[in-house]
Amino acid sequence: MGKLWLSEKMLSKCFWQSLRSSIYFGEASADSDFIANITAKKVDEFPSIAGSISVTSGIYLWLLSKYFSPKVVLEIGTYIGRSTLAISFGGRSSITDLYTCDGTYNCLNFTDYKSDKLATEKSKSIDQIKYFGKTMSTDMLKKILEDGKKVDLIFIDGRIANEDCNLLAQVMNEGCVIILDDFEGVEKGVMNAMMLRSVFRGMILIEPPIENNSHVGNLAMLVPTNLLTLTRQQSLPVNM
Ligand SMILES: C[S@@+](CC[C@H](N)C(=O)[O-])C[C@H]1O[C@@H](n2cnc3c(N)ncnc32)[C@H](O)[C@@H]1O
Repeated sequence: MGKLWLSEKMLSKCFWQSLRSSIYFGEASADSDFIANITAKKVDEFPSIAGSISVTSGIYLWLLSKYFSPKVVLEIGTYIGRSTLAISFGGRSSITDLYTCDGTYNCLNFTDYKSDKLATEKSKSIDQIKYFGKTMSTDMLKKILEDGKKVDLIFIDGRIANEDCNLLAQVMNEGCVIILDDFEGVEKGVMNAMMLRSVFRGMILIEPPIENNSHVGNLAMLVPTNLLTLTRQQSLPVNM
């Protein structure tokens, strides 16, 4: 008897395609544009330039944060906070704590991003952000471990160390999803994925979205296999 094989590539294709058809796509796009505008002004206050996520990646991060409805989120690589805000706005109805660290910079104050142009609930979501400036991921992970917090969603936009993998294993909830930026060529996202997959063997890789035969953005995901659920329903019982 043959089996119905699903490869990581097949899953990746249909996952992103469905996410793009989310009813929240319009709001995610508008928010991602808004975030790009308000954060761009911050770059001049930083001593050097590190690069930020693209508007497209901002849309997907927003939608992923809505889709997985995490309570506790961890981000490695804050810089000007573009990705932090996308996660925060998309996940505003579920997130209780959003830990984010940057090993190089310590010049960001998230309350600067509050304004009259921001809906009240999005402005409030900024209060859940716990910024660790000039703090490497290893130190922030130790702090989360000490606090006894379990993490549901992780976004990595920095370079992790071997020690981080062991700490991640201790702070991750069973269904924790890891999102990686810069997943292309030999960029940091690919290096991080290789390191993480050697520790978290039960996770599958969702490759970056493809449109018209080329990659759109460079976000990839590592998802625990036990999160895969088949449904006979046309619509999913999640926020899509
Ligand atoms: C590409 S930037 C992040 C951009 C940010 N996500 C955004 O959307 O604005 C990468 C940042 O990660 C920081 N970084 C790299 N590796 C790190 C680590 N292991 N721990 C903490 N910060 C790290 C760097 O200092 C740099 O500011």
